[in-house]
Amino acid sequence: MNVRDSEHMIAELKNKKDYEQTNNIEEADLIMVNTCSVRDKPVQKLFSEIGHFNKIKKKDAKIGVCGCSATHLGKDIIKRAPFVDFVLGARNISKISNIIDRKGAVEIDIDHDDSSYMFDDYRSNPYKAFINIMIGCDKSCAYCIVPFTRGDEISIPLDIIINEAKKVVREGVKEICLLGQNVNNYGKKLDKHINFTYLLQKLSEIDGLKRIRFTSPHPLHMDDEFIEEFAKNPIICSSIHMPLQSGSTSLLKSMRRGYSKKWFLDKAFKIRDLAKDVSITTDVIVGFPGESDEDFADTLDVIDKIRFEQIFNFKYSKRPLTPAIDYDNQIDDKISSQRLTRVIEKHKTYNFDILKDKIGSDYETLFDAIKPDGYISGKSDNNFTVITKGDASLLGEIKTVHIKDRRKNSLIGNMLF
Ligand code: 5AD
Ligand code: SF4
Repeated sequence: MNVRDSEHMIAELKNKKDYEQTNNIEEADLIMVNTCSVRDKPVQKLFSEIGHFNKIKKKDAKIGVCGCSATHLGKDIIKRAPFVDFVLGARNISKISNIIDRKGAVEIDIDHDDSSYMFDDYRSNPYKAFINIMIGCDKSCAYCIVPFTRGDEISIPLDIIINEAKKVVREGVKEICLLGQNVNNYGKKLDKHINFTYLLQKLSEIDGLKRIRFTSPHPLHMDDEFIEEFAKNPIICSSIHMPLQSGSTSLLKSMRRGYSKKWFLDKAFKIRDLAKDVSITTDVIVGFPGESDEDFADTLDVIDKIRFEQIFNFKYSKRPLTPAIDYDNQIDDKISSQRLTRVIEKHKTYNFDILKDKIGSDYETLFDAIKPDGYISGKSDNNFTVITKGDASLLGEIKTVHIKDRRKNSLIGNMLF
């Protein structure tokens, strides 16, 4: 989502202000840092980064801070780092071309409706395009700062999304990735017949569109209609992110996730049953306040049962404004670190077997990167990295690769057709 927000800002600056991109900070006239605030570490990093940029930048170059930390810290950023020229919140990025000339400006209004921002046409990848389908989040997970930085959930009107998808396909894009905090809650405040499944059906009718991905769905909104569409629609990639957070029903309750361990397992099993060779990835938080050994054992149990293809692990991080910051049963950092290691180790115990099981499969692969020594790489439908012999002429092509071997985190094969 931040990558896409950056693309929007780059598009605005290119089209309205004649800016060009550079990777060389020392020659830049404007340095922008797009930030996350989901955990405390990136927020700390922000200040060391901008301090460094301030030292090496050209004399009159401006520095802007955007994104979720901008919303959350607002004018405190300029107080702490007075050389910062402007602060632009995650919900206000459409104002970028206006704010850059207003020294000291802070635009962080989360009620500002940015859902119609222009969707200008800068894209960092010619074959794959991110498309926002909603902004904000109406949930109130007890650990999460996002509803305070990205505001209420607004679904972008269906026709804007469809037109955006048609446009990128005309320009050569093969794969779109739909973005939102809870994509499968799409349409909640739109016409009754419009929901995420309907959106997927409409998008998959677009001529020339080969693949649809999306991130992230919420386990609570995975109804049968959605799971069945996901499993049977050949345009929808067989890869899904199911953020578990915890396997313990009581912890899920204090996290305010709205589902139980059983609910999660039922959904995940149904997806494994119906969707051929599906990849299921997840997010896990360890060390949430009150997490007992039994709670943590439930998390490991869900991992054992579902054997997620990938796990994004996080140590719980106290966030301002969130209810959990005031919970009195905070977990010792040492225990959180041990649990984090155990999740990583657990995944390692079966990850190699997952890759081994793919040997002998034929995977349609969309190539998008050149590798050394005459190899190229891309992603299979189920989101594995596939490497094969080939050159730049294959970039953006979808070809079938017969998998012969696996490496630590990728599959190697021969191109068939
Ligand atoms: N501490 C740790 N992890 C968090 N996440 C969100 N808030 C926190 C927090 N306070 C994680 C969740 C979410 C992912 C994007 O970040 O797992 O799914
Ligand atoms: Fe945060 Fe929960 Fe909303 Fe996801 S669903 S963005 S974890 S509040």
